[in-house]
Amino acid sequence: MSEYNNFAEMKKFIGFTASDIENLNSMAPIFEQRGDAITDFFYETLSLYPETAALIEGRVDTLKETHRRWMRELFAGVDGGYDEAYFDNRNIIGKVHVKIGLDPRWVEGVMNIIRTGGHAALTQELESAAELGEKFSSLCKILDLDLMIINLSYADERLTRLAAFTGMSRKLIENCIKSG
Ligand code: HEM
Repeated sequence: MSEYNNFAEMKKFIGFTASDIENLNSMAPIFEQRGDAITDFFYETLSLYPETAALIEGRVDTLKETHRRWMRELFAGVDGGYDEAYFDNRNIIGKVHVKIGLDPRWVEGVMNIIRTGGHAALTQELESAAELGEKFSSLCKILDLDLMIINLSYADERLTRLAAFTGMSRKLIENCIKSG
Protein backbone atom coordinates (compact mmCIF):
# COMPACT_ATOMS: atom_id res chain seq x y z
CA MET A 1 0.00 0.00 0.00
CA SER A 2 1.41 3.44 -0.89
CA GLU A 3 2.16 6.00 1.79
CA TYR A 4 -0.65 8.19 0.49
CA ASN A 5 -3.11 5.28 0.71
CA ASN A 6 -2.06 4.78 4.34
CA PHE A 7 -2.91 8.43 4.97
CA ALA A 8 -6.28 8.11 3.24
CA GLU A 9 -7.04 5.03 5.35
CA MET A 10 -6.03 6.83 8.55
CA LYS A 11 -8.37 9.75 7.72
CA LYS A 12 -11.17 7.18 7.49
CA PHE A 13 -9.99 5.46 10.69
CA ILE A 14 -10.21 8.64 12.79
CA GLY A 15 -13.39 9.84 11.04
CA PHE A 16 -11.96 12.90 9.32
CA THR A 17 -14.92 13.99 7.20
CA ALA A 18 -16.30 16.92 5.21
CA SER A 19 -17.67 18.43 8.43
CA ASP A 20 -14.12 18.53 9.87
CA ILE A 21 -12.99 20.35 6.72
CA GLU A 22 -15.86 22.80 7.11
CA ASN A 23 -14.89 23.36 10.76
CA LEU A 24 -11.22 23.86 9.88
CA ASN A 25 -12.05 26.35 7.12
CA SER A 26 -14.29 28.27 9.51
CA MET A 27 -11.46 28.58 12.09
CA ALA A 28 -9.04 30.20 9.60
CA PRO A 29 -9.92 33.81 10.58
CA ILE A 30 -9.41 33.02 14.29
CA PHE A 31 -5.92 31.67 13.64
CA GLU A 32 -5.07 34.51 11.21
CA GLN A 33 -5.61 36.76 14.21
CA ARG A 34 -4.32 34.62 17.08
CA GLY A 35 -1.91 32.23 15.34
CA ASP A 36 1.15 34.49 15.58
CA ALA A 37 1.05 34.39 19.38
CA ILE A 38 1.11 30.58 19.23
CA THR A 39 4.00 30.66 16.74
CA ASP A 40 5.92 33.11 18.95
CA PHE A 41 5.49 30.87 22.00
CA PHE A 42 6.52 27.81 19.90
CA TYR A 43 9.88 29.43 19.03
CA GLU A 44 10.36 30.98 22.49
CA THR A 45 10.07 27.48 23.95
CA LEU A 46 12.49 26.01 21.39
CA SER A 47 14.98 28.76 22.25
CA LEU A 48 15.02 27.67 25.92
CA TYR A 49 16.62 24.27 25.31
CA PRO A 50 20.24 24.15 24.05
CA GLU A 51 19.62 21.24 21.66
CA THR A 52 16.77 23.01 19.84
CA ALA A 53 18.07 26.56 20.36
CA ALA A 54 21.23 25.69 18.39
CA LEU A 55 19.13 24.61 15.40
CA ILE A 56 17.00 27.75 15.19
CA GLU A 57 19.62 30.34 16.14
CA GLY A 58 19.86 33.25 13.68
CA ARG A 59 16.90 32.07 11.57
CA VAL A 60 13.86 32.48 13.82
CA ASP A 61 12.20 35.15 11.64
CA THR A 62 12.44 32.96 8.53
CA LEU A 63 11.23 29.91 10.44
CA LYS A 64 8.26 31.88 11.78
CA GLU A 65 7.25 32.68 8.17
CA THR A 66 7.45 28.96 7.30
CA HIS A 67 5.40 28.15 10.37
CA ARG A 68 2.75 30.72 9.45
CA ARG A 69 2.38 29.07 6.05
CA TRP A 70 2.11 25.65 7.71
CA MET A 71 -0.63 26.97 10.01
CA ARG A 72 -2.56 28.59 7.16
CA GLU A 73 -2.51 25.26 5.31
CA LEU A 74 -3.81 23.54 8.43
CA PHE A 75 -7.09 25.48 8.03
CA ALA A 76 -7.25 25.85 4.23
CA GLY A 77 -5.67 22.57 3.13
CA VAL A 78 -3.15 22.42 0.27
CA ASP A 79 -4.55 23.11 -3.23
CA GLY A 80 -7.85 23.58 -1.44
CA GLY A 81 -8.01 20.19 0.27
CA TYR A 82 -6.58 17.47 2.45
CA ASP A 83 -5.73 14.90 -0.18
CA GLU A 84 -2.56 13.93 -2.06
CA ALA A 85 -1.10 17.47 -2.31
CA TYR A 86 -1.63 17.92 1.43
CA PHE A 87 0.02 14.59 2.16
CA ASP A 88 3.04 15.37 -0.07
CA ASN A 89 3.47 18.77 1.56
CA ARG A 90 3.43 17.31 5.11
CA ASN A 91 5.60 14.33 4.14
CA ILE A 92 8.51 16.65 3.29
CA ILE A 93 8.44 18.17 6.80
CA GLY A 94 9.56 14.95 8.55
CA LYS A 95 12.43 14.49 6.11
CA VAL A 96 13.59 18.10 6.55
CA HIS A 97 13.77 17.63 10.32
CA VAL A 98 15.79 14.40 10.03
CA LYS A 99 18.27 16.25 7.80
CA ILE A 100 18.91 18.89 10.46
CA GLY A 101 19.52 16.13 13.05
CA LEU A 102 16.49 16.95 15.22
CA ASP A 103 15.50 14.29 17.74
CA PRO A 104 11.82 13.38 17.06
CA ARG A 105 10.80 13.89 20.68
CA TRP A 106 10.94 17.66 20.17
CA VAL A 107 8.41 17.46 17.36
CA GLU A 108 6.10 15.43 19.62
CA GLY A 109 6.53 18.02 22.38
CA VAL A 110 5.93 21.15 20.36
CA MET A 111 2.77 19.71 18.82
CA ASN A 112 1.34 20.03 22.32
CA ILE A 113 2.04 23.78 22.21
CA ILE A 114 -0.07 24.04 19.05
CA ARG A 115 -2.83 21.93 20.58
CA THR A 116 -3.07 23.81 23.89
CA GLY A 117 -2.48 27.20 22.21
CA GLY A 118 -5.21 26.35 19.70
CA HIS A 119 -7.60 25.41 22.48
CA ALA A 120 -6.93 28.69 24.31
CA ALA A 121 -7.50 30.71 21.10
CA LEU A 122 -10.81 28.94 20.40
CA THR A 123 -11.94 29.37 24.01
CA GLN A 124 -11.41 33.11 23.71
CA GLU A 125 -13.30 33.39 20.41
CA LEU A 126 -16.20 30.93 20.67
CA GLU A 127 -19.04 31.38 23.13
CA SER A 128 -20.87 28.10 22.70
CA ALA A 129 -19.38 25.09 24.49
CA ALA A 130 -20.83 22.79 21.83
CA GLU A 131 -19.17 24.75 19.01
CA LEU A 132 -15.88 24.84 20.92
CA GLY A 133 -16.00 21.07 21.44
CA GLU A 134 -16.79 20.34 17.83
CA LYS A 135 -14.18 22.69 16.36
CA PHE A 136 -11.45 21.69 18.79
CA SER A 137 -12.09 18.07 17.89
CA SER A 138 -11.51 18.89 14.18
CA LEU A 139 -8.32 20.74 15.11
CA CYS A 140 -7.09 17.71 17.09
CA LYS A 141 -7.81 15.43 14.13
CA ILE A 142 -5.76 17.48 11.66
CA LEU A 143 -2.90 17.91 14.17
CA ASP A 144 -2.83 14.16 14.78
CA LEU A 145 -2.82 13.51 11.02
CA ASP A 146 0.02 15.99 10.53
CA LEU A 147 2.01 14.44 13.36
CA MET A 148 1.38 10.98 11.94
CA ILE A 149 2.71 11.98 8.51
CA ILE A 150 5.73 13.72 10.05
CA ASN A 151 6.51 10.70 12.26
CA LEU A 152 6.14 8.17 9.45
CA SER A 153 8.28 10.15 7.03
CA TYR A 154 10.78 10.67 9.85
CA ALA A 155 11.06 6.92 10.40
CA ASP A 156 11.22 6.30 6.65
CA GLU A 157 14.02 8.83 6.14
CA ARG A 158 15.98 7.25 9.01
CA LEU A 159 15.73 3.79 7.41
CA THR A 160 16.77 5.21 4.03
CA ARG A 161 19.83 6.81 5.64
CA LEU A 162 20.72 3.63 7.54
CA ALA A 163 20.44 1.59 4.32
CA ALA A 164 22.61 4.06 2.39
CA PHE A 165 25.22 4.18 5.18
CA THR A 166 25.49 0.41 5.79
CA GLY A 167 24.85 -0.76 2.23
CA MET A 168 22.12 -3.07 3.59
CA SER A 169 18.90 -3.23 1.60
CA ARG A 170 15.79 -1.60 3.07
CA LYS A 171 14.03 -4.98 2.94
CA LEU A 172 16.81 -6.63 5.00
CA ILE A 173 16.73 -3.86 7.61
CA GLU A 174 12.93 -4.12 7.85
CA ASN A 175 13.18 -7.91 8.21
CA CYS A 176 15.75 -7.47 11.03
CA ILE A 177 13.35 -5.12 12.83
CA LYS A 178 10.43 -7.53 12.40
CA SER A 179 12.32 -10.64 13.46
CA GLY A 180 11.62 -11.64 17.08
C1 HEM B 1 4.80 20.59 15.12
C2 HEM B 1 6.07 20.48 14.86
C3 HEM B 1 6.75 21.20 13.71
C4 HEM B 1 6.23 21.65 12.53
C5 HEM B 1 4.80 21.54 12.05
C6 HEM B 1 7.31 22.25 11.79
C7 HEM B 1 7.18 22.79 10.54
C8 HEM B 1 8.25 23.08 9.73
C9 HEM B 1 8.17 23.36 8.32
C10 HEM B 1 6.88 23.41 7.50
C11 HEM B 1 9.43 23.56 7.86
C12 HEM B 1 9.84 23.90 6.43
C13 HEM B 1 10.02 22.61 5.67
C14 HEM B 1 10.49 22.85 4.25
O1 HEM B 1 11.58 23.41 4.05
O2 HEM B 1 9.76 22.47 3.33
C15 HEM B 1 10.30 23.44 9.00
C16 HEM B 1 11.67 23.61 8.94
C17 HEM B 1 12.46 23.67 10.07
N1 HEM B 1 12.09 23.38 11.36
FE1 HEM B 1 10.30 22.76 11.96
N2 HEM B 1 8.45 22.17 12.53
C18 HEM B 1 8.16 21.55 13.71
C19 HEM B 1 9.01 21.28 14.72
C20 HEM B 1 10.30 21.76 14.81
C21 HEM B 1 11.15 21.65 15.95
C22 HEM B 1 10.80 20.95 17.28
C23 HEM B 1 12.32 22.23 15.64
C24 HEM B 1 13.47 22.33 16.59
C25 HEM B 1 14.55 23.01 16.43
C26 HEM B 1 12.22 22.72 14.27
C27 HEM B 1 13.20 23.37 13.54
C28 HEM B 1 13.16 23.57 12.18
C29 HEM B 1 14.30 24.04 11.39
C30 HEM B 1 15.69 24.41 11.91
C31 HEM B 1 13.86 24.07 10.06
C32 HEM B 1 14.66 24.51 8.82
C33 HEM B 1 15.25 23.28 8.17
C34 HEM B 1 16.15 23.66 6.99
O3 HEM B 1 15.63 24.01 5.93
O4 HEM B 1 17.36 23.63 7.18
N3 HEM B 1 10.98 22.40 13.80
N4 HEM B 1 9.58 23.13 10.10
